[in-house]
Amino acid sequence: MRTIVAARRPSPVEQHDPVPDLGEDDVVRGEFVVVDADTGEPVLIQAKIGGDLRTVRRLLPTAKYEGLTSEGRLSGLRYAHRTFGYRPRLPLRRREACSSCNLAQETPDLHDAIVGLEPEIQSLFARHAPDAFARHRQIIDDAVLPDWRINGGPYTSGIINATAALTYHRDKNNLPGCWSAMLVVRRHLRGGHLHIPEYDLAASCEDGMLLIFSGETLMHGVTPFRIRLGGYRYTIVWYAVANMKSCLPLADELAWGASHRTQREAAEAAELAEAEAAAINGGEDE
Ligand SMILES: [Fe+2]
Repeated sequence: MRTIVAARRPSPVEQHDPVPDLGEDDVVRGEFVVVDADTGEPVLIQAKIGGDLRTVRRLLPTAKYEGLTSEGRLSGLRYAHRTFGYRPRLPLRRREACSSCNLAQETPDLHDAIVGLEPEIQSLFARHAPDAFARHRQIIDDAVLPDWRINGGPYTSGIINATAALTYHRDKNNLPGCWSAMLVVRRHLRGGHLHIPEYDLAASCEDGMLLIFSGETLMHGVTPFRIRLGGYRYTIVWYAVANMKSCLPLADELAWGASHRTQREAAEAAELAEAEAAAINGGEDE
């Protein structure tokens, strides 16, 4: 594994700035660890995943992707994506309880193939950034019950991004101190590298590469890409969602969700009845 020592410097790049088309010569390829010049700590890993990606590759196109939906607008995501793993309560969206994303029901083979990669992702993280991994593990062990973690491991949730060149951003909603892991599955395209402006570095994101870094603290974005016939670029990102820390043990969470759903439905029914009564009374007055 190659080590690249890089100094972190403030960058003028801002959230949502488009990522420039970097020359291919400026892109770092293959497997490497970027070590911060000042702290001596690893900050980014690009490592080839050893597991078999054939099933994932074959099944990725079969998932139903959410794109420019109301959900996309609400969450700020304006590209085709699909979540997996667990999701927190979201009463405003009528999600009273923590629950699992329904990719597992819709396309179980794809879900199982993705989840099957989790042990290797965890072991690459532990091998190449042991201190950051230990911190991440401690934070999630303290915050989120194993019931709400994929395989009981260090991630609660994930997202599949289908062929999107993302502008610069920091990942939102992550458990502070926890890193993200991004697997790249791609064919027949140029570009689509991950640029980290503060380290002035672009990781190639070749097919089968796993990138592990602190997505919540390091600004990152994807360079423009040109897809040839039959090409695609998926990234499968694993992360720890901060709001999962309020999820109760599974049975208690289901009971909590059911009672709050009942309360909400009763309140809605009362409101409706009141509105109807008002309309009827209004009618009589005329
Ligand atoms: Fe990101």
